[in-house]
Amino acid sequence: MKSFRSILHLFITFIILLITKSYSQFTSLSPDCSSAVQTFLNSSEFNACFPYNKLSSQFNHVVFRNFTTNEKDIINAEDSICSLPKCSDSLISNFNSTFQSKCSADIAKNSPDALGVSILIYAYSPARDSICFKNSTGGYCLVEIGENIVNNLMPGSSFTNLSSKVLCTDCVKSIANTCLKYIKSHPLPANLALVFGSTTNITDYLNQTCGASFL
Ligand SMILES: *[C@@H]1O[C@H](CO)[C@@H](O)[C@H](O)[C@H]1NC(C)=O
Ligand SMILES: *[C@@H]1O[C@H](CO)[C@@H](O)[C@H](O)[C@H]1NC(C)=O
Ligand SMILES: *[C@@H]1O[C@H](CO)[C@@H](O)[C@H](O)[C@H]1NC(C)=O
Ligand SMILES: *[C@@H]1O[C@H](CO)[C@@H](O)[C@H](O)[C@H]1NC(C)=O
Ligand SMILES: *[C@@H]1O[C@H](CO)[C@@H](O)[C@H](O)[C@H]1NC(C)=O
Ligand SMILES: *[C@@H]1O[C@H](CO)[C@@H](O)[C@H](O)[C@H]1NC(C)=O
Ligand SMILES: *[C@@H]1O[C@H](CO)[C@@H](O)[C@H](O)[C@H]1NC(C)=O
Repeated sequence: MKSFRSILHLFITFIILLITKSYSQFTSLSPDCSSAVQTFLNSSEFNACFPYNKLSSQFNHVVFRNFTTNEKDIINAEDSICSLPKCSDSLISNFNSTFQSKCSADIAKNSPDALGVSILIYAYSPARDSICFKNSTGGYCLVEIGENIVNNLMPGSSFTNLSSKVLCTDCVKSIANTCLKYIKSHPLPANLALVFGSTTNITDYLNQTCGASFL
C-alpha cells in the first residue's frame, strides 16, 4: 500500500527534517536562497512558535535508526513542539513568498533541499496538528501508531497488510481526517505529488478497511 506509506512518510519526513536539519545541511541551496531560509528558521518569530533552534541543537548528535531506538527522542521533540502555540498561517505564507522569490532557481531544479523546504511549508499545518494529537491515555498518537506498527508488522511484511486493529484507531482516524481534509482544500503542488503519490488510494483503502464512517 504505497499510499498509506506515503502519508506516514510525510510525517516521518517532516519530523526527521525538522529535528535533524542543522544550518549547515542546507548547503545544496544557492547562496541567496540558503541565507533566506536560514534567516527564517533562525528568526525569533519562527522560534516563538516552532522550536527550530532548540531541536537542531538538541538533536545534532542524535542518529535516527528506528522507531524503538528513537522513541524517547521523538517524544522529547513532540513535547518541545507542542508546548509552543502553532505558527500562524500568515507567518508560514510570508515565508513561502520569500522562499518562492529567493529560491526560484533551486525550486525549478528540484534540488533535494528545496524540496525539503517545500515540504515544510506545505505540510506544516496538518503535521503540527498530527504531531500533537494525543490518545485517551495522554500518549502521543504518533508514538502509539509507531508502537502498533512495530508490534504488528512482521519482518519482511509491508504496510499492505497492516491489520484493521492497527489502522482503525482513533489516532489514525484523527490524523487521516486532518491530512485528507487539508489535501482536499490545498492540492499538493506538482513536485510534491511526485513524492507522495495519489491520495485516492488511501481514502479507498481506509474506507474499505475501517468502514465508511471512518473518513
Ligand atoms: C541566529 O540568531 C541569533 C540571534 O537571534 C544570532 O546570534 C545567530 O548568529 C543566528 N545564527 C545564524 C546561523 O544565523
Ligand atoms: C532498532 O535498533 C536497535 C539498535 O540499534 C536494534 O537492536 C533493533 O533490532 C532495531 N529494530 C528494528 C526493528 O530494526
Ligand atoms: C507557496 O507559494 C506557491 C506559489 O505562489 C503556491 O503555489 C503554494 O500554494 C504556496 N504554498 C503554501 C503552502 O501556501
Ligand atoms: C497511548 O499512546 C501511548 C504512546 O504515546 C501508548 O503507549 C499507549 O498504549 C496508548 N494508549 C492507548 C489506550 O492506546
Ligand atoms: C503481508 O505482505 C507481505 C508482503 O507484501 C506478504 O508476503 C505476506 O504474505 C502478507 N501477509 C498476510 C498475512 O497477508
Ligand atoms: C493506487 O496506486 C497504485 C500505485 O500506486 C495505482 O496503480 C492505482 O491505480 C491506484 N488506485 C487508485 C484507485 O487510485
Ligand atoms: C466508502 O465506500 C462506500 C461503499 O463502498 C461508498 O459508498 C462511499 O462513498 C465511500 N466513502 C468514501 C469517503 O469514499
